[in-house]
Amino acid sequence: MTHQELIQIALEVRENAYVPYSQFKVGAALLGVSGKVYTGCNVECASYGGTNCAERTAIFKAVSEGERRFKTIAVVGDPNAYTFPCGICRQVMVEFGKELEIIVAKTPEDYRVYTMNDILPHSFTPDDLENSGEGVRSHDL
Ligand code: THU
Repeated sequence: MTHQELIQIALEVRENAYVPYSQFKVGAALLGVSGKVYTGCNVECASYGGTNCAERTAIFKAVSEGERRFKTIAVVGDPNAYTFPCGICRQVMVEFGKELEIIVAKTPEDYRVYTMNDILPHSFTPDDLENSGEGVRSHDL
């Protein structure tokens, strides 16, 4: 799976975005270590706080299907600007590992690649709970 192919998948799923309030469509394509790709779009809600971003839709779909380790996520929002994941999505991404590669794309030919550390430095992760002096809380990735 090339970067271009993953971006193309994100572009296609972007068309499914349910965005009656913002009209801002976002698509995401998440590549699992298994090689499987999970897609996501943003889904808005009349009670605005119920909105789910494209990235989290893809991650939650993957986790609900049993995959928790990921290689790359491609995100396409505004075709004329790089759309970066929001803060909540960054936190959900790092929950599943700091190794994730993040692609923000306008088109399959015009994109940028970032590390998790680039977009969420000094992150709070499950390791912080593991290493807490208050007791061990193990998690299973
Ligand atoms: N949105 C995403 O889906 N992903 C992002 O990275 C940024 C924001 C959505 C949420 C909402 O439906 C719309 O874009 C405007 O905020």
